[in-house]
Parts: sequence; C-alpha cells; structure tokens
Amino acid sequence: MRMILIGPPGAGKGTQAARLVDKLQIPHISSGDMLRAAVKEGTKLGLEADGYMKAGKLVPDDVVIGMILERIAKPDAAGGFMLDGFPRTIPQAEALEGAMAKAGVTIDRVLLIEVPDELLVERGVGRRNDPLTGKIYHLKFDPPPSQDVAERLVHRKDDTAEAITERLKYYGSWTSPLIPFYDAKGVLRRVDGVGTPDEVTARITTALAS
Ligand code: AP5
Repeated sequence: MRMILIGPPGAGKGTQAARLVDKLQIPHISSGDMLRAAVKEGTKLGLEADGYMKAGKLVPDDVVIGMILERIAKPDAAGGFMLDGFPRTIPQAEALEGAMAKAGVTIDRVLLIEVPDELLVERGVGRRNDPLTGKIYHLKFDPPPSQDVAERLVHRKDDTAEAITERLKYYGSWTSPLIPFYDAKGVLRRVDGVGTPDEVTARITTALAS
C-alpha cells in the first residue's frame, strides 16, 4: 500500500500514522520528522529549513522534494509507504507523481483527516513529544503516563499559537489544493478527525478498505 496522510497541523496525522504502520507493515515517512532530525543534526539541509519551520512557513519545494524522493527510493519502501506531511504543495505532488510513474507504481490512497480550526490550536499548543520513544502526547487529551516521562518531554518550537495560526494559513493556501487534485484521481478518502484517537483509527481502517 502506497498512501498519503493529509490534514491541517495538529489534525492527528502523526498520532494515527504510529497506530497504522505496524498493522500495515510499511514505513512511516514524515517530512516534518525528517526535517526536525536534520535541524538537530545541524546538516546543511537542517540549517536551511530551521528558520522556515520556526516561523510556521513552508520549507522550499526543491529542498523537500529531493529529501523525500531519495527516501522513498530506499529498499524498505519498495513494497509501500505512508507519507505524512508530504506532498504539501501542487509542485510536490507533481514531483511525486513523476517519480511514481517512472517506477511504474501509483498512490493507492490519500486520507484527509478533517478537524475544525478552533480545535487545532489547542491540540498543537498542548502537544508534547517524547524524544526517547518518539511518542506524541497531549497535556490534556493524552497526558504522559509517569513523572519520569513528563520530565523528558519537549515542546516543538512551532507549537506556539502564533506559529500554528501561520501554519494554518499556509495549509489553506498551499496544501488544500491537493484535495481536488487527489479527488480527481479517485484515491481521496475523507475522515472525520474529531473524537478519540481510537474512533479516528476505526474510521481510517474503514476508509482504507473502501
Ligand atoms: P509537520 O511536522 O508535518 O507538521 P504539521 O503537518 O503541521 O502536523 P503536525 O505534526 O503539527 O500535526 P499532526 O497532524 O501530525 O498531529 P499530531 O498527531 O501530532 O511539519 C512541520 C513543519 O515542517 C512545517 O510547518 C514546515 O515548515 C516543514 N515541512 C514539513 N513538511 C513539509 C513539506 N512537505 N513542504 C514544506 N515544508 C514542510 O497531534 C497533535 C496533538 O493532538 C498531539 O498532542 C496529539 O496527542 C493530539 N491528538 C491527536 N489526535 C487527537 C484526537 N483524536 N483527540 C484529541 N487530541 C488528539
């Protein structure tokens, strides 16, 4: 299965991807996680991306396209993958289409996780990430299980109300055109992202089978 998760910042893409990849036995390829790793390592790509990310702006297409096309060409992605956060613009989607056509394969499903804007800021501001396990928590909706875990959690630099508002603007202008793009190909499925993570996972499982 070659699939893409689309949705506004804080919709639950990372949370759902972590639940789905084990079941589907495909790698979770998150452009945001790859860029954050590059920033942490201080690579050339990371230094270029850091300023855009902190401000909630999109990293330039050429930087992200090269990074993702290289990743999906790796052997572990030969049988399928779950893209999260890529593509985010029409030029990125077209570059992906070109690479897929060259490899003689297609995208099977694009899942759009829909959550109203007013819930997204609260989800983002309260999010905390565990650098040890990669697990995503929320101070109110999914609190850490122990004091030890709570003490090591980190708050992403772009999880401020200001940066989330900016990310939502970019989503509306640059990413939402992907919805008609993939709908026209017949692969888009919409999933209501409001409810418990278990409820959303159940909806995604149904959508993937449809
Ligand atoms: P990226 O890391 O992709 O961020 P995003 O798309 O903004 O998505 P998030 O990671 O914020 O949210 P999510 O949907 O994964 O939600 P989560 O599951 O964590 O990108 C970051 C930046 O990198 C971009 O702004 C850009 O600068 C750059 N970038 C990345 N890709 C790029 C590209 N292709 N092109 C250009 N630039 C790019 O959940 C959020 C919170 O809600 C968590 O606390 C979670 O516990 C909680 N939660 C989840 N589900 C539920 C639920 N059902 N109910 C209640 N709470 C829930």
